[in-house]
Amino acid sequence: MTEMNYFLNGGNLYMKKIAFITGISGQDGSYLADFLLSKGYIVHGLIRRSSSFNTSRLEHHINNPEVYNKTFFLHYGDLSDYNSIYQMIEKSQPNEIYNLGAQSHVRVSFDMPVYTGTIDGIGTLHVLEAVKCYQEKYGKQIKYYQASSSEMYGKVQEVPQKETTPFYPRSPYGCAKVYAHHLTVNYRESYGLHASCGILFNHESPRRGETFVTRKITRAVGRIYQGLQKELYLGNLDSLRDWGYAGDYVEAMWLMLQQKTPDDYVIATGQMISVKEFLVKSFEYAGLKNYQDYVKIDSKYFRPAEVDQLLGDSTKARNVLGWNPKVNIDGLVKMMVDHDMELAREEFMIHHMTKRKIDSKKYEISYS
Ligand code: NAP
Ligand code: GDD
Repeated sequence: MTEMNYFLNGGNLYMKKIAFITGISGQDGSYLADFLLSKGYIVHGLIRRSSSFNTSRLEHHINNPEVYNKTFFLHYGDLSDYNSIYQMIEKSQPNEIYNLGAQSHVRVSFDMPVYTGTIDGIGTLHVLEAVKCYQEKYGKQIKYYQASSSEMYGKVQEVPQKETTPFYPRSPYGCAKVYAHHLTVNYRESYGLHASCGILFNHESPRRGETFVTRKITRAVGRIYQGLQKELYLGNLDSLRDWGYAGDYVEAMWLMLQQKTPDDYVIATGQMISVKEFLVKSFEYAGLKNYQDYVKIDSKYFRPAEVDQLLGDSTKARNVLGWNPKVNIDGLVKMMVDHDMELAREEFMIHHMTKRKIDSKKYEISYS
């Protein structure tokens, strides 16, 4: 234990809280790490070995010598590997675990159903078992957060969806998340784990993966504006989503683990728009009229079964946790388009300075 593990408050010395995050290199994991570090936590994260860099969203911590390997630690592991999970828990001795790691792409889950079930379903079981075994061995409680998803509502049984709405998943991803959700509830009821599920509706940001529809659109808007890209290929424009800002949603995860009793909560804005409306808002905000001039429909982006609409009722989270989203859909569009206009401007400058020919096809191809 070093002085980094303690903090002073009113003349008293306290131990810092320790959090362990799976999926720390993803969109939510990186925002959650920022949030917990700002609250004075020591943060440990699980990263996968990769042949290329997969920590770009964490560079601001890795490049900060005040933080890296002092209050922010990364460890290699995989959700498919129980040993790596248990060892990391023993090593980091966390007060809180946030299980965010997943194969999180719905379309890809149709191509890789077994892998998705293994990571999103059995991977969750690995973490829950490791928490249970650790608690039994050391008698120390670990609070557990499970990243459940509105995708579990699938073919929605009521509008809007709340905690009591029955699940009807429409993809291997949704099915795996339902399994992981029920496992978490079962470990809470069977072994008394302080385990909570956040049923989060879609949430986006400038750190959103570029194959999810909102980011795919805002990246294209920036590049089209700069003349780097001519066309944007998309699938179903009619589906409706309740889109919020990821930075707001990680606060809700933390709030769940600060409650005396574990429980499950819907986290959503309560506003729903279509993919087409998101397109129009993004193009118009950038000053590009007529998105139809650029957008082409490609059947490869359609899913074998679609989730037509998702709209969340987060009354419980607002009343019990005191959680409220701060960013609405227009604020989200502005934040993402502003960010991606700047990224595209930098890309354009590189082309300009290196006199490299612009190959718009390079930006138009994506697999999911
Ligand atoms: P994301 O950006 O796709 O991040 C997923 C994370 O999981 C990445 O860090 C990824 O590592 C890691 N991961 C993937 N396979 C793994 C494996 N086999 N072992 C260990 N780690 C693995 O997803 P996100 O948007 O941040 O979402 C976080 C969680 O919330 C996910 O569980 C997702 O299903 C769930 N969720 C998301 C939303 C949403 O709208 N964003 C809504 C509801 C629920 P690499 O960086 O190496 O790929
Ligand atoms: N990805 C993608 N790419 N989606 C497209 C495209 C495209 O080119 N064209 C249309 N869409 C439609 C999809 O068919 C879907 O109806 C909608 O846009 C949103 O797709 P995604 O952004 O891929 O998100 P998602 O709703 O399927 O899943 C996300 O939200 C879930 C919560 O509801 C993911 O983050 C999941 O991990 C998360 O659980």
